[in-house]
Amino acid sequence: MLSGEAISPPPAWMMRQAGRYLPEYRETRAQAGSFLDLCYNPAFATEVTLQPIRRFGFEASILFSDILVVPHALGQGVRFVEGEGPQLDAMAGRAEFDRLREAEDPTIFSHLAPVFEAVSSIRAALPHETTLLGFCGAPWTVASYMIGGRGTPDLAPARALAGADPELVESLIDRLVQVQTEYLIRQFQAGADAVQIFESHAGVLPEGGDSLARWSLLPIARMIQGVRKHVPDAKIIVFCRGSGLDGHMRVVPETGASAVGVDWSVDLAALRARLPETTVTQGNLHPETLIEGGVALDAEVDGILEATRGLPHIFNLGHGITPQTPIVHVEQMLARLRRK
Ligand code: CP3
Repeated sequence: MLSGEAISPPPAWMMRQAGRYLPEYRETRAQAGSFLDLCYNPAFATEVTLQPIRRFGFEASILFSDILVVPHALGQGVRFVEGEGPQLDAMAGRAEFDRLREAEDPTIFSHLAPVFEAVSSIRAALPHETTLLGFCGAPWTVASYMIGGRGTPDLAPARALAGADPELVESLIDRLVQVQTEYLIRQFQAGADAVQIFESHAGVLPEGGDSLARWSLLPIARMIQGVRKHVPDAKIIVFCRGSGLDGHMRVVPETGASAVGVDWSVDLAALRARLPETTVTQGNLHPETLIEGGVALDAEVDGILEATRGLPHIFNLGHGITPQTPIVHVEQMLARLRRK
């Protein structure tokens, strides 16, 4: 699906496809204990990864884990508080950075061993034709959580530190590039067919100047080059949220990504009209339209098909599915997509 051929109907999966909108997920989650217990238990992680495949028959499956297991493996305190999202021991400056594990510390990858075990066990359990995606966060997105301690709407703490002490933020980004390059290689070695890099917070970087390149696109490019030294034909999707039409246009040429994940705010037809025909796109149904259902949902599915007809495209949402989404709307979306 990532080799550049146009497939009709396009292959489909959903970001956050294993999650709280599914009763079977809520049941396994309750058995597992905390969210991190679920992530670090290969049997439970395998079970929740397979749930949406069994129910909907998506063409791709995504490893169940979280981008924040990497800061956790680096030694930072990470908690998921019910109803409040993630909380990390904020990294205010050099002192906290110096307490993180060095990239060469073997403890990092022994901490992450259950993730690789989950990848192998999911690959063994999945239907042969279903693609298994591994993933990690882009260095800037992960760094912004490490610095701010939580998701803040405008990422003020990360941007402030990038302005006040750019060398420190660069050191943190470098550490994340190094560790996560190895992290993705090990996911491929464990059985991932492709990976996605989640850049959820590119939108707060100023459009002018070199911020987007410096903090987002270049570190992603270094990871992709590093992965391909070991996995030469590695297929890598980069999902860049909130970077606008121009930001999305830059992802494939500047990072070397195999595909660009498009967020819901971008006019897909306008983007496709400007991109080379060979570029693979992915997206971008608005998660709120999936809550709404009905004619609005059918119309948006049709619009995405129209904008990408004859072009290489992977059908997806423009951001993660939300817990209040009715399951029947996911069924409606797939029926519309796959109708003859
Ligand atoms: O897509 C998938 O199904 C794979 C699993 C996955 C999760 N998080 C599971 C999860 C993936 C790929 C992620 C990525 C992730 N995690 C991102 C990047 C994508 C994005 O959404 O922008 C980010 C920023 C995070 C950090 C994170 N984890 C946040 C902000 C939250 C809270 C939001 C929420 O919905 O509560 C999480 C928790 C989380 N990660 C949940 C799931 C299923 C919900 C927790 C629960 O079940 O209690």
